[in-house]
Amino acid sequence: MAARMDVLLGAQWGDEGKGKVVDVVAPEYNVIARFQGGPNAGHTLIFEGKKHVLHTIPSGVFREGTTNLVGNGVVIDPVIFLKEIKALDAVGLDVRKSLLISRRAHLILPTHRALDAASEAEKGTSKIGSTLKGIGPTYMDKTGRNGLRIGDLELPDSMDRFLALTKKHERLLEQYGKPDAPAEAREEWLAAVEVIRGLQLVDSEHYLDNALRNGQRVLAEGAQGTLLDIDFGTYPFVTSSNTISAGACTGLGVAPNRIGTITGIFKAYCTRVGSGPFPTELLDDTGEMIRKAGHEFGSTTGRPRRCGWLDLPALHYAVMINGITELAMMKADVLSGMDTVQVCTGYTVNGKRTDRMPYDVSGEIKPILEPMEGWGELRTEAPLPASFERYIAMVEERVGVPITLISLGPDRAETVRRQPTFAR
Ligand code: GDP
Ligand code: IMO
Ligand code: MG
Repeated sequence: MAARMDVLLGAQWGDEGKGKVVDVVAPEYNVIARFQGGPNAGHTLIFEGKKHVLHTIPSGVFREGTTNLVGNGVVIDPVIFLKEIKALDAVGLDVRKSLLISRRAHLILPTHRALDAASEAEKGTSKIGSTLKGIGPTYMDKTGRNGLRIGDLELPDSMDRFLALTKKHERLLEQYGKPDAPAEAREEWLAAVEVIRGLQLVDSEHYLDNALRNGQRVLAEGAQGTLLDIDFGTYPFVTSSNTISAGACTGLGVAPNRIGTITGIFKAYCTRVGSGPFPTELLDDTGEMIRKAGHEFGSTTGRPRRCGWLDLPALHYAVMINGITELAMMKADVLSGMDTVQVCTGYTVNGKRTDRMPYDVSGEIKPILEPMEGWGELRTEAPLPASFERYIAMVEERVGVPITLISLGPDRAETVRRQPTFAR
């Protein structure tokens, strides 16, 4: 019987813990398929005392028997991709057999990275705070119909195509008054491309169609988060792809009527890395405490993450835009020991109360905070404290979606399933 594709994505500003949850549920799936973003993502998995960080490779790779597919919506930097493969080799995991790459995925060139840096430098204080991995310029070339795709590597004139696009970029860099990417970067890139060419390049839309027709279970893995979505995030402080559930359809070539459950991952508080509005941001000792306790430093760039209280209108917005059917709450253990925990239930915008995310979040916007009783230590093997159960129930009621997975620590084992969730 034909199966449906489930979707798992970030419901906040990224770094919600998507990688951890994908690793936890991967044994229930045959295929894990990344649908957008690129090496701007950093997904951390911890098990058996070891930490692994993935950027482009899907987070199902550590589960035997799972096929991991990099979809057409993803942008790939061959150099970073190869480093990821080598890091997995180093822990005794050869992913070459279980890893598939869509021919339609676009390539990040060294000059895309240089353009990203040049664009950010020109923006000065209004910079986006990009990870500088070349994401924006690569998606610009995709929509501008100039991009180089993985499938182009199989064509006899792939080098000419690479040189033509590089030349175009060099002219742009000249306009910015910036130097071209260094020659070593180009050599490294060309060497990495040789390795990528030897991997399993597929027409992934057909692969997934076949898998679903044969009743295989497919999970689409998102990167970044809803509030970083190019259309519905806090524009212009966003990434350059559709991070929302609709992005799983375009980023994998799976039709909307074949989507099953949609799981939104969120932290019991909020974080954001890079510039842009963040209504519940805590610029005080409490924010610092959360950053320390939650090790809130970027997995890709090492930058400190900005921390703040849980923003319910923003979460509600994510539920609406994505059609989220279930939620996974992460990192509540980080708030353990606080007498009181605050939640944002609305905003005051220009003196008026609203419970909706406004169009312009950058203006005069103040969060309306409501206190909730805090909780003590959270342990997977013990019943959850009553005050924490009340916190869970409050979120479920406010956003209208059940929380079916609770993560109480970074390790794979520190996870509580509240109902049969991902299995349908
Ligand atoms: P992703 O980008 O959504 O996959 O998330 P990241 O891996 O960038 O960031 C999440 C961070 O929180 C990582 O360092 C995880 O190891 C860690 N983490 C995940 N879940 C939990 C949790 O429930 N509690 C704690 N304390 N840490 C967690
Ligand atoms: P994961 O998948 C958190 C942020 C950057 C910057 C903005 C644009 O780990 O959740 P870009 O490099 O895309 O041009 O940056 O988006 N950003 C992320 N923040 N988690 C991520 O990915 C992110 N990927 C990009 O910090 O503000
Ligand atoms: Mg991350």
